[in-house]
Amino acid sequence: MSAQAPVKRVTVPQIMQAKGATPLVALTAYTAPMAALVDAHADIILVGDSLGMVVHGMTSTVGVTLEMMILHGKAVMRGSQRAMVVIDMPFGSYEESPEQAFRNAARVMAETGCGAVKLEGGSRMAPTIRFLVDRGIPVMAHVGLTPQSTNVMGGFKTQGRDQSSWPAHLTDARAVAEAGAFSVVVEGVMEALADRMTETVVIPTIGIGASARCDGQILVLDDMLGLSGRVPRFVRKFGDLGSRADEAIADYAAAVRDRSFPAEAQVYR
Ligand code: KIV
Repeated sequence: MSAQAPVKRVTVPQIMQAKGATPLVALTAYTAPMAALVDAHADIILVGDSLGMVVHGMTSTVGVTLEMMILHGKAVMRGSQRAMVVIDMPFGSYEESPEQAFRNAARVMAETGCGAVKLEGGSRMAPTIRFLVDRGIPVMAHVGLTPQSTNVMGGFKTQGRDQSSWPAHLTDARAVAEAGAFSVVVEGVMEALADRMTETVVIPTIGIGASARCDGQILVLDDMLGLSGRVPRFVRKFGDLGSRADEAIADYAAAVRDRSFPAEAQVYR
């Protein structure tokens, strides 16, 4: 009996080599079946802390815990074979000190087997990113609109509308790249600022609400499938599964009520 060689997952060097070459495809997933669907097409699956809002009905990502990320991270690892799985560090699990970040990131990596972690913040998080990378933890950074800081930012606001803020945003992008992050999510920034970031940093930029010229794109899966309610302007609905699911559930309810379900094919005689 010959053992089947496991499929090799996308690696950090492969992601880095994509800079300026092939656009990187990234999507979120939070469960094993969705991860299996995404795995067939994406380079990166992000277990985003957006799961707090998308799956758990929270009003922000602030209440998401490390345990939730690990639970969903394990499910996504089980459902996928090829894509690199990146798991978000939730609010409060890494900001206190590089040591706290290492302790929690190491737990996420060890318990899930994921390929990397993501954390939010630019220059202020650079020493933490350096600390993690030097100790063997690949880090995807996240700059621009950082949802864990919306209480400070005053909401989900597009960044860089005022050009005087651009130097600070560019410094953030440079700082995370120089600290050793292997890629950086650029969220909710003006297109021209995203382009400047992509030109400035040596690592791939992965845009969301940013620019088509980023080195890759990411969307929240449920948003692009039409499973979420109101979505931001930058989301394109590539499917309308919400309406399809609504129709199917209505059909089921009607069939139960008029006793046409279960029919002959669905019962054991
Ligand atoms: O939590 C998340 O899903 C994210 C993406 C939107 C980039 O951080």
